[in-house]
Amino acid sequence: MKIAVYPGTFDPPTNGHLDIIKRASLLFDRIIIAVTDSNTHKNPTFDIDTRLEILKEITKKMNNVTVDSFHGLLVDYVKSVKATVIVRGLRVISDFEFEFQMALMNRKLDKNIETIFLMPDEKFTYLSSSVVKEIVHLGGNMECLIPEIVKEKLLEKYGNKNRDSVKKAR
Ligand code: COA
Repeated sequence: MKIAVYPGTFDPPTNGHLDIIKRASLLFDRIIIAVTDSNTHKNPTFDIDTRLEILKEITKKMNNVTVDSFHGLLVDYVKSVKATVIVRGLRVISDFEFEFQMALMNRKLDKNIETIFLMPDEKFTYLSSSVVKEIVHLGGNMECLIPEIVKEKLLEKYGNKNRDSVKKAR
């Protein structure tokens, strides 16, 4: 049984993440999407339970995909679920340096864990969670780039602010 872990902050998940999950689910027996706040550079907009809820909803039809969270080192989590592969998405060349460093560091920490990179459909290469949040916050349309549940959660979070800013502008 080949188990792979797709880790990330997923704050929030986008159709680009979903594209990677679908591709990975065709390559492995089981994919575990592992949500974490261990990335100290980020200050998440959504709490971990909301991100788990969103990921569970958007992957509910994928039989070999499960969703989980972890704290601490990724390699320790990967070992604890008996996985041997880490999946990461590579959108553009600028992702490469960070991903390369992370993959080699994870290999240094555990030589039995391999990282593989999948490329999302090109229509998602310019997408990121921060860009999605900024555009929805400012009232822009993210149709086709985020799942419906993400749109709802973002509007719940920013909806009132948006309406206020529209009123002030008038
Ligand atoms: N489509 C759209 N966007 C994508 C994407 C795709 N296919 N793949 C990545 N992104 C975007 C995300 O939206 C996110 O954008 P943002 O920076 O605007 O929020 C960015 O790329 C990266 O996010 P994500 O894929 O969620 O990864 P991350 O960089 O937040 O996650 C961890 C990094 C969690 C994997 C890493 O910090 C980790 O392993 N932490 C655990 C602690 C540890 O072991 N540290 C040592 C590591 S060597």
